[in-house]
Amino acid sequence: MTGVKIRACAHYVPSAVLDNHKISTWVDTTDEWIVKRTGVSERRISEGENTSDLCIQVAKQILEASGTAPEDIDMVLVATFTPDYGTPSVACLVQAEIGATNAFAFDLSAACSGFVYGVSVAQKFLLTKQYKNVLVIGADVLSKVTDWSDRGSSILFGDGAGGVLLSADEEGFFAERLRSRGDRVINGGFAEVVNPFSQRERGEYDFLKLDGQEVFNFAVKEASANISEILEQTGMTIDDIDFIVPHQANSRIIEGIAKKLKTSLEKFYVNIQRYGNTSAASIPIALSEMFKEGKLKQGSGKKVILVGFGGGLTWGSVLLSI
Ligand code: UT7
Repeated sequence: MTGVKIRACAHYVPSAVLDNHKISTWVDTTDEWIVKRTGVSERRISEGENTSDLCIQVAKQILEASGTAPEDIDMVLVATFTPDYGTPSVACLVQAEIGATNAFAFDLSAACSGFVYGVSVAQKFLLTKQYKNVLVIGADVLSKVTDWSDRGSSILFGDGAGGVLLSADEEGFFAERLRSRGDRVINGGFAEVVNPFSQRERGEYDFLKLDGQEVFNFAVKEASANISEILEQTGMTIDDIDFIVPHQANSRIIEGIAKKLKTSLEKFYVNIQRYGNTSAASIPIALSEMFKEGKLKQGSGKKVILVGFGGGLTWGSVLLSI
């Protein structure tokens, strides 16, 4: 047994819609430029809900959809780099709110790769057979760390959360390929030491800073290579894969990955037009929509690759059967 079963999947996004036209009223950009260069038309922005609030909505939906009692959850894992606090973790806040009294809970920080890393970690706990029901949620409120005066990054991001309830699956298939390169960074969020001894002003690193083109090139190159590696590792070809669910960072990145893999864009699920880049949330939001649209059905055996890439740098894929 190595597989995991997705027993339920859900997502939640704030209700406030921020479209490109509105952004173009405060930075020098246009709806046309943003759509053409990123694929994003609009994103959801929190009007006060924090990361845990989004996660709690997801967790409640999952419990209801799967008919699982909160006491039967063994572990709550939240992938995020925009937590409510340093401590308690978002996962502990979720655990408390849903009444998962028998679960242990912790957060995982791997930026846009967080959900993929989280599924991998969950699978290892399930393999021990000591844990049966694991809640994995990817969530970020990027609007907290976005520099809204920077047209190079503010156009990209949105807020959201998505998650899955995982159990072990005797017949299920699972493979993974996770990578990091800590020497190549996207800087972002609460990084500077600002205290009476540091002689530093708060500012520069409070917000996400990225070299868009460098991240773009890294993403296309490494994500496609990563998928090729996982296929080679499992003796499969791209034709054996039903869907690829990529992190939604830029529609041109997704097109670039499809081109490098010499496969049709049809295999990729894309919803970036509605949500922008929601970091750790983008893959589970996409999965949740795929279940809702009937593209994925539990027990169908469909083979799906989830591929994440982002800050750290981190990247990686898991290949699982649904
Ligand atoms: O999840 C990982 C997090 N990071 C990312 O997802 C970022 C990945 N990178 C990207 O998505 C793209 O690199 C961007 C969308 C950020 C930028 O697109 P690009 O095609 O790489 O544009 P560029 O940075 O090469 O800029 C091209 C031009 C420049 O003008 P000049 O120098 O050619 O006159 C920019 O100043 O476009 C200009 N520009 C803009 N123009 C209008 C940059 N941002 C904007 C903007 N509106 N928002």
